[in-house]
Amino acid sequence: MFDLDQFIVDCQRAIEQPEPTKAVKKLVQEAISNPAEFKAAIAKRGKADSLKGAILFRSENLTVLPVTTAPGMLTPAHDHQMWAVIGIIDGVEPNDFFSDKDGKLVKKGTKVLNEGDVAALDGRAIHAISNPLDVECYAIHVYGGDLVDQPGRSMWNPHTLAREPYDIVKLGEYVREIAEMNAGATAS
Ligand SMILES: [Fe+2]
Repeated sequence: MFDLDQFIVDCQRAIEQPEPTKAVKKLVQEAISNPAEFKAAIAKRGKADSLKGAILFRSENLTVLPVTTAPGMLTPAHDHQMWAVIGIIDGVEPNDFFSDKDGKLVKKGTKVLNEGDVAALDGRAIHAISNPLDVECYAIHVYGGDLVDQPGRSMWNPHTLAREPYDIVKLGEYVREIAEMNAGATAS
């Protein structure tokens, strides 16, 4: 039976390894090998009402965050300034990657992560995630730092594409605004 508390303890040990992303990748691969058990363990914690509220574990060098992406959802581009490991439990999570050239956001490519895929992002990565399906995408994200309070993080305003300091609450507002814009575009 999958044990969520043990998974978090194992992640804390893994980040002390010489190659933390490799060690965490292996743990995430194992954890999501039984998606039903993993989801049941998370569901026991109750439904979170915000991205911040969904965080399972947070310290200065580790954040464990299950991410539910609603159908049609798209996040603004953002960076992490720390490595990240993403494991897909249900659905599809396309990751658009960007570079920032003199304050201008340039799209570099897309990597579509499917159920069972585990990907590592380096600390300089700038990405936006979306959900093109009509069912929720469910993923586990593990980060090598404090995602909420990491200095120097940026996000890109979806209306102006201007670079802004990262703010997890504001990011949530942008996600809602993008959804409203897309709904309006579909309706007209
Ligand atoms: Fe991200």
